[in-house]
Amino acid sequence: MSKNKAMKDFINISDFTSADLAQLLDLAIADKKLFRAGALPKTLQNKTLAMIFEKPSLRTRVSFETAMSQLGGHAIYLTQADIGLGKREPVKDIARVLGRICDGIMARTFSHDMVVELAAHSPRPVINGLTDWSHPCQAMADLMTVQETFSSLKGRTMVFIGDGNNVARSLGFACAKLGMKFILSSPEGYELDEASSQAMLEMSPESYRLERQPMVAVKHADAIYTDTWVSMGQEQERAKRLSDLSEFQINAKLLSAAPRHAIVLHCLPAYRDHEITDEAFELHAATIMEEAENRLHFQRTLLNVLLADS
Ligand code: CP
Ligand code: NVA
Repeated sequence: MSKNKAMKDFINISDFTSADLAQLLDLAIADKKLFRAGALPKTLQNKTLAMIFEKPSLRTRVSFETAMSQLGGHAIYLTQADIGLGKREPVKDIARVLGRICDGIMARTFSHDMVVELAAHSPRPVINGLTDWSHPCQAMADLMTVQETFSSLKGRTMVFIGDGNNVARSLGFACAKLGMKFILSSPEGYELDEASSQAMLEMSPESYRLERQPMVAVKHADAIYTDTWVSMGQEQERAKRLSDLSEFQINAKLLSAAPRHAIVLHCLPAYRDHEITDEAFELHAATIMEEAENRLHFQRTLLNVLLADS
């Protein structure tokens, strides 16, 4: 796949055409097979990726770092304590310096504007590794898992149970772009913002629906998704969130209302007996772990596309 002009950075799913996203998924699935056959070429030799983390991470850090190493390149882990993004040094200076020395930047920040600012000033690609607003790499790994399971995405139904957060937003946009129905089941006050849900509906009238009753929402689900009720940065709202979202749990009762073929997905980390019971999690652990592994395969493909000629 050659990088089109609009594809300098990877910041929001909504920045890309349906065709670009579909092509990225097909390529990631093909690359995964090549990788498993030991036949994936080392296309990023001597390239470096700067990875900025304002928040903790297991999957994002390990998958980006591993992907760079598998392609013959190198990743550099930078925490807020190391570089003082916007404090020790202005964001635009960090973007320009890293964009000179490295071949790409991956950033996980609180503020989404921070990643947008990095991209505006970096001459090299910037990849969003999660902000308070979105988590596009996660959504792509998620839909990669759905595509591998059902062979195609068109017409399939994704049901997200719980907090309409960064993960839900990116997933909703990815579903809308790739011809899936997205049903969000959240209590009042935890829906996606109006602009995002409207934008999804404009992509296709069937792409977004809010259903307050989780048991109704999952009735025609092909995939059921959940994420933590307390995202990074929301720790002080923990007690209220756990109480407000307590009826929006993936458990045996909810799964009994879903079709037997429905898969369960979770971006992880998973908080047992909050958004999902241990029983429901373990029943679907094989798919959830494939989804986690797909972070590596999707991001390796993305790095290849963005950094190969950067
Ligand atoms: N799903 C995900 O992004 O995991 P980490 O927070 O561990 O990177
Ligand atoms: N919504 C969660 C996702 C963690 C991968 C958060 O932002 O903390």
